Amino acid sequence: MAVDEGVKLVMAGLRCDDDSDLIGLDVWQGATKKLCEYCMKNSNLFRGAAVLEIGAGVGILGMVLSKLGARRVYISDYDEVVLEVIRANIQLNGLDGKCVECKLDWSNDEHFDAFGRGSDVSIIVGSDLLYSSHMAKLLHSAVRRLFEVLPHAVFIMSHKKR
Ligand SMILES: C[S@@+](CC[C@H](N)C(=O)[O-])C[C@H]1O[C@@H](n2cnc3c(N)ncnc32)[C@H](O)[C@@H]1O
Repeated sequence: MAVDEGVKLVMAGLRCDDDSDLIGLDVWQGATKKLCEYCMKNSNLFRGAAVLEIGAGVGILGMVLSKLGARRVYISDYDEVVLEVIRANIQLNGLDGKCVECKLDWSNDEHFDAFGRGSDVSIIVGSDLLYSSHMAKLLHSAVRRLFEVLPHAVFIMSHKKR
């Protein structure tokens, strides 16, 4: 499967509020594609696993992982419009039930607790999350919180230096 062949995407045509963060409606080609390719080469790591994608944007990475055999993928973002697009993409790819969109805002402490409770997630993934220097501190604290609520999880992230 090639990344751009295996997953269909809806990215436009949905309601956009003026204050919505449209950053998530682009596929951030460099880092996202590289991490998808890494996952395809190492699909054995993900087969049967429950995975959480953070800052997912349109959700391509999470859907690739689902197609590679992850048992369940929680595809998260904080923006309502982005979550709507993720939901549409999950349906478009026939992945209802295998992928679930969920709201996880790194600046909302309660979201981590709610997510961690009873969760079986063993792998956390994210691509191109440090798109601006002000994200570093927020992402660092988010990952620390995730390790508190998911102490056995590993975090795999790709980053493109700009
Ligand atoms: C540069 S985009 C990358 C999107 C996707 N991972 C990709 O590689 O195509 C960064 C993503 O982080 C999300 N994001 C920004 N701030 C966030 C926050 N406080 N909590 C959760 N997600 C956030 C944005 O909505 C956006 O989808």
